Amino acid sequence: MRYVVTGAAGFIGSHLLRALLERGHEATGYDAFTDYYDPALKEENAAGLPIGRVDLVDGDIDLEGVDGVFHLAGQPGVRSFGSVFPTYVRQNVLASQRIFEAAVAAGARTVLASSSSIYGDAASYPTPEETTPRPLSPYGITKLACEHLAHAYGVEFGLDAVTLRYFTIYGPRQRPDMALARMVACVAEGRPFELFGDGSQSRSFTYVDDAVEATIAAMEGGSAGRTYNVGGGEEVSVLQALEALAAVAGRRLEVVRSPRREGDAARTAADTSRIAVDLGWKPGTPFVRGLEAQWRWAADRVAAR
Ligand code: UGA
Repeated sequence: MRYVVTGAAGFIGSHLLRALLERGHEATGYDAFTDYYDPALKEENAAGLPIGRVDLVDGDIDLEGVDGVFHLAGQPGVRSFGSVFPTYVRQNVLASQRIFEAAVAAGARTVLASSSSIYGDAASYPTPEETTPRPLSPYGITKLACEHLAHAYGVEFGLDAVTLRYFTIYGPRQRPDMALARMVACVAEGRPFELFGDGSQSRSFTYVDDAVEATIAAMEGGSAGRTYNVGGGEEVSVLQALEALAAVAGRRLEVVRSPRREGDAARTAADTSRIAVDLGWKPGTPFVRGLEAQWRWAADRVAAR
């Protein structure tokens, strides 16, 4: 099949594009190489991959002849209040609107990457998809806007879109601002880790290879208009993640405490029964196994410097 991945030089996008090519698909990527984090890391992710440098808001997007577009590009990070807000609106809402227009024009199926952050502090755990969304962060609000926009394009223009709510994806090449990426880098480099809040906050951390499987399954078999949680099977608190990493790395990490960040949910826990029933997907990687892979990757990079 012919596929396009947006955000293909990012963490999840680069894993996805590689997986599609390995499976024999004709796949290419778009990425704007924005500086939300060091673009040199994106260049590293993109090495050897067919990725065009395109800004989705004002660049040329041509999906003619494409069977499906995986729309993963966006401004990430839930800690998103303040002066950065317009960037979230631009990179998430405006960019998605252009992708939906192009996908409708080309008749391309769309998989939209959304986020567990649309739930905020959810009314029930584990959280099923029909839970009323109450995002706590500008990021989550823009992601929810993208979901609604996809729905409206579906109803009014026949956009064939499946939405995935990713729950804190981790693994090798994870975005450097995320908790586990910071933890493994801090252990590898002997620096202290800055803990936001008391560490009791928890996440359904989801291993990146599992997320890629779910994403391809959604493109191949998800029903139009359907939304799926893509979440790991274990709920792990930040303190538990620190303990697990100490065991995996054989070294304890020095922790410096700082206040909870605005926009940060106290808890995420995915109910994945819908995707299990519809697409036969289950998170296959135990948290500690995924953490070992991420730790090995980070330690090897530091050793290679
Ligand atoms: C992550 C991503 O950043 C979002 O892009 C994504 O959409 C979201 O997951 C999601 O799944 O919806 P988050 O869950 O906050 O957001 O992931 P982490 O950055 O790994 O943070 C996990 C927890 O660790 C948070 O409570 C955070 O406050 C804490 N943390 C993070 C620290 O204590 N210290 C840090 O240096 C970084």
